[in-house]
Parts: sequence; C-alpha cells; structure tokens
Amino acid sequence: VTVTSARRLGIDCDALQRLLAREKESFLAKHRESARLAAASDAHWLNGVPMHWMRDWNTPHPLFVRHARGVEIEDVDGNRYIDFCLGDTGAMFGHAPPPIARALAAAGTEGITAMLPAERVARVGEKLAHLFALPFWQMTQTATDANRAVLRWARAVTGRARILCFDGCYHGTVDDTLVRAVPGANGASACARSIAGMPSCTTEVHGTSRSSP
Ligand SMILES: Cc1ncc(COP(=O)(O)O)c(C=O)c1O
Repeated sequence: VTVTSARRLGIDCDALQRLLAREKESFLAKHRESARLAAASDAHWLNGVPMHWMRDWNTPHPLFVRHARGVEIEDVDGNRYIDFCLGDTGAMFGHAPPPIARALAAAGTEGITAMLPAERVARVGEKLAHLFALPFWQMTQTATDANRAVLRWARAVTGRARILCFDGCYHGTVDDTLVRAVPGANGASACARSIAGMPSCTTEVHGTSRSSP
C-alpha cells in the first residue's frame, strides 16, 4: 500500500512510515553481505542486477542468493527463507531438483551449442505429446521468445493484428506488450507505451495493442 493510497483508505500514514523505517533498518542489519555485493554489482550491471526485474521487490537493495533447494532459499548472509514465489519456473519442480540437476550436468558434458537436434529429441517429443496431450512442439529460449513467436503465429493464423494484454503484468520484452492502460477520452481505457527507442513503430503498436486492467 503506497502512502497516498493508504491516506485514501484512512490508514495512519505516520504509523505506516514508522513501520517502513523500522523494516528497512531491520533489513539492512540482516543483509550486510548482500549490501556489499549490491554495491559491487552496481559498478558493471545496469541498476546493479543482470536482469532488470530483479529490482522489482522494493527492498532497499537486492538479496543475493547463495543457493536455492526445494522450497528453501539461503542468501549470502546465511538467512533462510521458505520461497512462496519459486521464481516462476521453480514452481513446477522446486529449486534444483536432484534428477534435473544431474540431467543438466550430464547433458552439458555432451555439448551445448551444436545447433543440431540431439539423439534424445524424438523421445522427448513423444513424452511431451503424451504428458500434455498436444501433438506438436517447438522450443524457444525464453518466455519473451515464446510470446513473440506465438503472437506472430496467432496473427498469421487469424489474419487479425490486435492483441490484448493484462495491464501491469510482465510479458517479457516483446515490444507489442510493453503497454500500459491509461484513462482515455470519455472514460474509455486507452493504451500508452514508452516511445523511447521505437519512433517508427509507435503508431502501429498504439493501433494494435490494448491493455486491460
Ligand atoms: C507471462 C510472462 N511472460 C514473459 C516473461 C519473460 O520471461 P523471459 O525473461 O524468459 O523472457 C515472464 C517472466 O516473468 C512472464 O511471467
């Protein structure tokens, strides 16, 4: 709850500020090694982190992780947490499940970037089709790539250009989805996006992306 919206809800803002200050102090006291690494990382990483959304969590500085196993994360100061977020992907299997860690280590020693299908590909395709009851599969490297590909496929199949995005949700760095819902004329919801770096595409994205609260 931000202080402005708290005031609207009749919450004691001074008490809220005192609580925030106390929590911040307690966070800084418990995470001295993370603070040191955050300062060091600031030298060569934009905003001090390798991926921009690692600063989304509103802590005074990011937590640096020593390891994550099962449902537990341990930070570099030795604090341990039950992880209710599980970093999206960890939600499927937990952190560092031993069978997957073993399979990754073994696959790494057989070559990583040959740009040709591996011996096991047919078997994996068969398993995916069986597990998810979907006959055809395609791999992408990231969720951004998957979203970009699926938008292109959907537009090609339907012949329609317009897409709808959930406002405030992260869909990766696909330009079509970097939009925000803003109040438009006559109370209608309109769509806004940053134009920085995309001068020639701005009009087109305005016309084809809609952001829904
Ligand atoms: C729905 C959705 N789309 C895309 C992404 C971007 O993922 P990636 O960093 O793998 O491109 C995320 C990541 O949080 C996501 O939750």
